[in-house]
Amino acid sequence: MATAWDYAPAPEARDIVKIQDRYGLFIGGKFVEPTSGERYTTIDPAREEPLAEVAQAGKADVDRAVGAARDAFSNGWSTLRPSERAKYLFRIARLLQERSREFAVLETLNGGKPIRESRDVDVPLAAAHFFYYAGWADKLEYAFPNRKPRPVGVAGQIIPWNFPLLMLAWKIAPALAAGNTVVLKPAETTPLTALLFCDVVRQAGLPPGVVNIITGDGRTGAELVSHPDVNKIAFTGSTEVGKAIQKTLAGTGKRLTLELGGKAANIIFDDAPLDQAVEGIVNGIYFNQGHVCCAGSRLLVEESIYETVIAKLKRRMATLRVGDPLDKNTDVGAINSKQQLEKISALVQSGVDEGAEIFQPPCKLPERGYWFVPTVFTNVAQSYRIAQEEIFGPVLSVLTFRTPDEAIEKANNTPYGLSAGVWTEKGSRILAMAQKLRAGVVWANTYNRFDPASPFGGYKESGFGREGGRHGLEPYVVLDDA
Ligand code: NAI
Ligand code: MG
Repeated sequence: MATAWDYAPAPEARDIVKIQDRYGLFIGGKFVEPTSGERYTTIDPAREEPLAEVAQAGKADVDRAVGAARDAFSNGWSTLRPSERAKYLFRIARLLQERSREFAVLETLNGGKPIRESRDVDVPLAAAHFFYYAGWADKLEYAFPNRKPRPVGVAGQIIPWNFPLLMLAWKIAPALAAGNTVVLKPAETTPLTALLFCDVVRQAGLPPGVVNIITGDGRTGAELVSHPDVNKIAFTGSTEVGKAIQKTLAGTGKRLTLELGGKAANIIFDDAPLDQAVEGIVNGIYFNQGHVCCAGSRLLVEESIYETVIAKLKRRMATLRVGDPLDKNTDVGAINSKQQLEKISALVQSGVDEGAEIFQPPCKLPERGYWFVPTVFTNVAQSYRIAQEEIFGPVLSVLTFRTPDEAIEKANNTPYGLSAGVWTEKGSRILAMAQKLRAGVVWANTYNRFDPASPFGGYKESGFGREGGRHGLEPYVVLDDA
């Protein structure tokens, strides 16, 4: 019998990126000290080691940032020739590509995701978003025929920690392309790539105040949401906070888009190419440690192939390498924070307590840092918390079905509606399923694929509004009659 492959460590060099000891707030084109005087430490979740001190922006800081964005909007940016705006976006895209290794290493250090993913997914897609929206900047009248698009004003943008740089790109690129200025707040656990991005903004020569980056936790986010001079809020994060924001904004006339949680069904029919489907299942839930709003966290398998699929899946899971995110061999990295690890652990315990059967492959975890072994639950009832709630970790819940109608019924039986996957040889079945699934994105015979030209967003408690594609411009333009 052949012996198992051993992987020698293949660590990416971390010294390609220079991390400062402390950072200020990026307002009006330069770093300034927070008037709040408050700071906190951001860490590497794989080592539980401090990386830098960052500012906790207070009310006065938010006000200063919004003021800088307003000035930049009124003093040139909103009336700049669109082809000139495009040039800045192209420059930013090029700079992200040129500095991609730096960004990938920093994203991995601060967030815990495998370097392979930050290198091959997050950073290239972030650059692609800037390229894509650069192309739209001088073609807005073609995006909205017979209308006269104009910018909305100052956008307040609040992003989560699962795809820090990519979510920044999703937010900033369309806003700038349409002539808006922004104040963006990264998540408290992952501020560093947004702060490095400030350097790109400076290198690109963007006029001061067009992009402002303020760090801090939910309190800073709440100040930004309620600031009277912000015209539009774009939020990605938990459904809980999304609902709170919607309440705050009700009646204010401010625009809002919300991209919230999900509990997607990945549906496997008996005629699907099973080995590919198993890869899709693994990519669907273990990509980025399952910290993915559109993760395929519920597996729906046609009953006739259940045993085969589960056997293949377990075999595949045993080959996943969990550990040092900076190692190029790593498939599953560190959990982003202690808080998230606690949430995952509690939900997994609830699955065990409610009676589901748990499987975890043997796996040696590092001693320090936040880790969770890739997990699959079988014997899951639809009522269990692990079948209803977003776990946002590497945990899959398996259900079965006998007919397409039953699959639809189960897939749609959650408060969410962000994404879904369908695996089958039959094209007609893919189309029929896609029509009935209440999900913003439906992947067919693939999963977790992203492209800047494709709109992304949800139904129901997954939020509203679309990001990406031509649709992604809509929240950032006012459409007057031509
Ligand atoms: P969160 O919704 O609290 O944080 C997301 C962003 O919102 C962060 O930048 C945070 O500072 C900010 N924020 C928090 N409270 C705010 C408020 N009152 N007003 C304005 N901004 C505020 O999410 P958290 O606590 O990090 O994660 C909790 C759960 O949310 C996760 O376990 C996951 O289930 C879900 N989540 C979903 C995401 C998605 O991509 N849809 C992303 C992050 C979390
Ligand atoms: Mg929270």
